[in-house]
Amino acid sequence: MSTAIIIVSTTTSSSFFFFLLLMITTGGGCKPRERDALLAFKEGIVKDPAGLLSSWQRGGHYDDDDDQLLEEDCCQWRGVRCSNLTGHVVKLNLRNDYADVGTGLVGEIGHSLISLEHLRYLDLSMNNLAGPTGHVPEFLGSFRSLRYLNLSGIVFSGMVPPQLGKLSNLKFLDFSGMLPSSMAPFLYISDASWLAHLSNLQYLNLNGVNLSTVLDWPHVLNMIPSLKFLSLSSCSLQSANQYPTQINLRQLEILDLSNNYELSDQAESSWIWSLTSLKYLNLSSTSLYGEIPQALGNMLSLQVLDFSYNGEEDSTGMSVSKKGNMCIMKANLKNLCNLEVLDLDYRLAYGEISEIFESLPQCSPNKLKELHLANNNLTGNLPKLVGRLTSLVTLDLFNNNITGQVPSEIGMLTNLTNLYLHYNCLDGVITEEHFANLTSLKSIYLCYNYLEIVVDPEWLPPFRLEKAYFASTSMGPSFPSWLQSQVDILELAMSDAGINDTFPDWFSTTFSKATFLEMSQNQIAGGLPTNMENMSLEKLYLDCNHIADRIPRMPRNLMLLDISYNLISGDVPQSICELQKLNGLDLSNNLLEGEFPQCSLMSRVYVKVIVVWAKLTGRTDERLRMSQVAWSSIDSDEYYE
Ligand SMILES: *[C@@H]1O[C@H](CO)[C@@H](O)[C@H](O)[C@H]1NC(C)=O
Ligand SMILES: *[C@@H]1O[C@H](CO)[C@@H](O)[C@H](O)[C@H]1NC(C)=O
Ligand SMILES: *[C@@H]1O[C@H](CO)[C@@H](O)[C@H](O)[C@H]1NC(C)=O
Ligand SMILES: *[C@@H]1O[C@H](CO)[C@@H](O)[C@H](O)[C@H]1NC(C)=O
Ligand SMILES: *[C@@H]1O[C@H](CO)[C@@H](O)[C@H](O)[C@H]1NC(C)=O
Ligand SMILES: *[C@@H]1O[C@H](CO)[C@@H](O)[C@H](O)[C@H]1NC(C)=O
Ligand SMILES: *[C@@H]1O[C@H](CO)[C@@H](O)[C@H](O)[C@H]1NC(C)=O
Ligand SMILES: *[C@@H]1O[C@H](CO)[C@@H](O)[C@H](O)[C@H]1NC(C)=O
Ligand SMILES: *[C@@H]1O[C@H](CO)[C@@H](O)[C@H](O)[C@H]1NC(C)=O
Ligand SMILES: *[C@@H]1O[C@H](CO)[C@@H](O)[C@H](O)[C@H]1NC(C)=O
Repeated sequence: MSTAIIIVSTTTSSSFFFFLLLMITTGGGCKPRERDALLAFKEGIVKDPAGLLSSWQRGGHYDDDDDQLLEEDCCQWRGVRCSNLTGHVVKLNLRNDYADVGTGLVGEIGHSLISLEHLRYLDLSMNNLAGPTGHVPEFLGSFRSLRYLNLSGIVFSGMVPPQLGKLSNLKFLDFSGMLPSSMAPFLYISDASWLAHLSNLQYLNLNGVNLSTVLDWPHVLNMIPSLKFLSLSSCSLQSANQYPTQINLRQLEILDLSNNYELSDQAESSWIWSLTSLKYLNLSSTSLYGEIPQALGNMLSLQVLDFSYNGEEDSTGMSVSKKGNMCIMKANLKNLCNLEVLDLDYRLAYGEISEIFESLPQCSPNKLKELHLANNNLTGNLPKLVGRLTSLVTLDLFNNNITGQVPSEIGMLTNLTNLYLHYNCLDGVITEEHFANLTSLKSIYLCYNYLEIVVDPEWLPPFRLEKAYFASTSMGPSFPSWLQSQVDILELAMSDAGINDTFPDWFSTTFSKATFLEMSQNQIAGGLPTNMENMSLEKLYLDCNHIADRIPRMPRNLMLLDISYNLISGDVPQSICELQKLNGLDLSNNLLEGEFPQCSLMSRVYVKVIVVWAKLTGRTDERLRMSQVAWSSIDSDEYYE
């Protein structure tokens, strides 16, 4: 490096030559002017909790390792890099890697930085550097050599300065902010024409920048043919149907327009479908409506299409889609052989499930891994074609109007991990064949259909489930013996499953990892399992059965226990006081007698227990005496979360 400087300097005046020599002999590799600029920048930093700038010292500092005095070579400072050839600072990377409030730099981006004229790379992301004005400094537009500018996560407000349009060498511009909330001041662009001057730009991320008044954004961005990555999520975009006469974005691979709820146009008339180089297209939570056009079928590079809608839920947790966002599937995706993710949740107004399956990619090998069609009004039978989607990992058909039987071809999907068929009108029998090769299955949701699971008592499933929801699926009358192998289960719901049996003796060991078990509304008889205390259970619902005998020791992490409407007798044992986390307990409508044990439980979960107590005594079963609890006016059911 020093040689290079001498060669350059011999052609300059002799005083400059001596000055440089002096610099080299003291080991300083950086330009004094640039060092001063960096130190002045540091003065604008009022907090540096992670010590990012601790190596930035005037007059050198001692190296902790070998106790040597290091000279003030700012090129050695953390985050600073100089050119090997010219010695100028070319890179400044002060990214807050912890991306955590409280760990980043606090202060402002001081004007002194302007002296770093040769800067090619500037990353100040995730720091609190908006300064007192909150504005993006205009002088950033003077770094003519800049290739990379990352200001993501800095909570700026006001207008993005058009001066940035002078950065004609820029390849990466990342402004992605915090999602604007109605309270927070926001960053906005009102005239985007300067963006078109960034003619080398490959990466543009303006997530969260308000572009609501920029109606010609498709035109402007179409003037940057080098773009490969474009993310305009949460930008309050208003219109998508301005159709550039000629599409220049031939290299664009990633386009994210998600969370632009006001982007409301006919899907068909949008220019987006002409971007045939796209690999990733995210149109989730936009209000495009009407037909999903045939042109989608020509986007042969597409790997991910998210055209879902973030539907709202009503009080019962069911979807309520907003008006105006519904689409009708007209596109034929047969030739989209690269498609891995297709998400149309909440998007389709109606349709035949079989027609949708027929329009899915039919390539060999088929790469589709995730198919999300939940919360649509799809009707008809699930076709056998499902067996051809051999790469499927997630099949989500939750909450539709699908009828008929589940085709056994589903059992061929060796990679299927998540199967969501709940809230449909499926009927018929699920047998071993449906599960034959489902070796990867972890989550299965069959609840609220008219299904029946009938398997051989000796059947050994090929999978180990973690989440299994079978509510209202007929599985009895015996307690399903195949569940004994499901030792990884975390959540199991099988209420109203027609079980007329006692608890199996493997109950506590097999379900030892489970945190949620629900077996309400069966005819389970006999006593509660006796060895439950070491189970991981947090929520246990066994209400409306025929469970008898006394209350044994309960799992010690229990937060919610409902064993109401059973035949449990005896007194409430003292051991209930050991349930440190309990905040909901329903023992009502049993044959319990005696006093509730005196324990701190009563003070800890005072309201909740009184509510239960009120229930206990308020109903027909008056055998419990209310010796320690005064009646109160509390009558809510709030302990049910
Ligand atoms: C500059 O020097 C460093 C350290 O010697 C080296 O790793 C890097 O490759 C060099 N860069 C150029 C562009 O020569
Ligand atoms: C900008 O910084 C953020 C946060 O530090 C990072 O996640 C993002 O990938 C960076 N952008 C680019 C284009 O490198
Ligand atoms: C975006 O800006 C417009 C006015 O320019 C304003 O009405 C709107 O609320 C802003 N959107 C957000 C999400 O802040
Ligand atoms: C699409 O964008 C939404 C919102 O930004 C995000 O939650 C979702 O994960 C994205 N979809 C895909 C498939 O990446
Ligand atoms: C579902 O579609 C059927 C026709 O296929 C229609 O009669 C019904 O109203 C639709 N339901 C909803 C909630 O859109
Ligand atoms: C299923 O169809 C019925 C009757 O047409 C309708 O009331 C219901 O809302 C539909 N379900 C869904 C999820 O669209
Ligand atoms: C299943 O997943 C494995 C591991 O991700 C992968 O190697 C294999 O190709 C997949 N099988 C199919 C049929 O897609
Ligand atoms: C399950 O996989 C085996 C081995 O790959 C295959 O022979 C069998 O036909 C498959 N069964 C079903 C029902 O797909
Ligand atoms: C449950 O089993 C008992 C004894 O095996 C029998 O008497 C009773 O009828 C069964 N109940 C139902 C609803 O099947
Ligand atoms: C529960 O764990 C304790 C301590 O490890 C042990 O002494 C006790 O026997 C266990 N109880 C059961 C029912 O497994």
